[in-house]
Amino acid sequence: MITNQLNKDKLYNELQIKTNELVENNKRLQELDKMKSEFVHMVNHELRSPMVTIKGYTELLLNNKNGELPDQAVQKLAVMQRSINRLNNIIENIRALTIIDSDRKKIRISKINAIKVINDVYNDMLILTGKRRQNLKLDIQNQYPSILYNEEQLYQCLANLITNSIRYSPDGSDIIIGALCNENEKEIIFYVKDTGMGIEEKEFKNIFLPFYEIKNIKEHHSGTIEFNSAGTGLGLTIVKKIVESYNGRVWVESPGLWKGSTFYFTVPFDKLEKGY
Ligand SMILES: Nc1ncnc2c1ncn2[C@@H]1O[C@H](COP(=O)(O)OP(=O)(O)O)[C@@H](O)[C@H]1O
Ligand SMILES: [Mg+2]
Repeated sequence: MITNQLNKDKLYNELQIKTNELVENNKRLQELDKMKSEFVHMVNHELRSPMVTIKGYTELLLNNKNGELPDQAVQKLAVMQRSINRLNNIIENIRALTIIDSDRKKIRISKINAIKVINDVYNDMLILTGKRRQNLKLDIQNQYPSILYNEEQLYQCLANLITNSIRYSPDGSDIIIGALCNENEKEIIFYVKDTGMGIEEKEFKNIFLPFYEIKNIKEHHSGTIEFNSAGTGLGLTIVKKIVESYNGRVWVESPGLWKGSTFYFTVPFDKLEKGY
């Protein structure tokens, strides 16, 4: 009996020590994670200002208003500009990620109208789909319950998904932007559907990881035009971070390679809205 009790006490003490260790380690990890976010945010901030100068002057030179520059120089500048745009894109994407991490309180949230945001993004994307002769279509209702969101962030989620669909689908194909009401879950389900490359089921989770690109990326380019804003592998990570910060879900469905993909994300209704 006594030895039994002694054993129990010993085990209990050991468990207590281990639990304390875990709590300490967890705290330390959280501190390190915060330091990492702050560091990335700071480096990113420092990279932005020289970037603005390089970008601006390259554009100015490329304008070549008086035809002062020889053709060869203009060609080289154009190559430079593509790389600059790519770098700029990476910087802006990392900024978007760190903002979600560190400035949560600074993000302005208001009652927004889903139709307005969809129309804005639709009109902006027409320039890109036009270059690929793709047909951008809408599948929307006349009205939606209001949602509490940051308008730019909702725009960014849709824009990231649509630019992917443009990039990973053939010229001339259809892309649909849609939104449906899920009355049971009190949420709007936004979706972007394409008939492009598709995604294998084993990659469904991976593609949302930072800097993840499916290996056969070269074959993945299905269009004639290389985008200025070539991929950074951060687009879907940003969508996931934004969506989850509003308690939404994001997922992809695809019947397989070359069978198209549909990306979905949810946004909860504004709970204060009457009738919901
Ligand atoms: N609509 C799509 N069709 C096929 N593959 C896609 C689609 N959207 C994303 N992917 C795959 O998921 C990867 C990650 O996407 P994303 O995070 O936006 O990064 P990227 O900058 O490479 O577009 C892409 O590299 C691509 O392999
Ligand atoms: Mg992308």
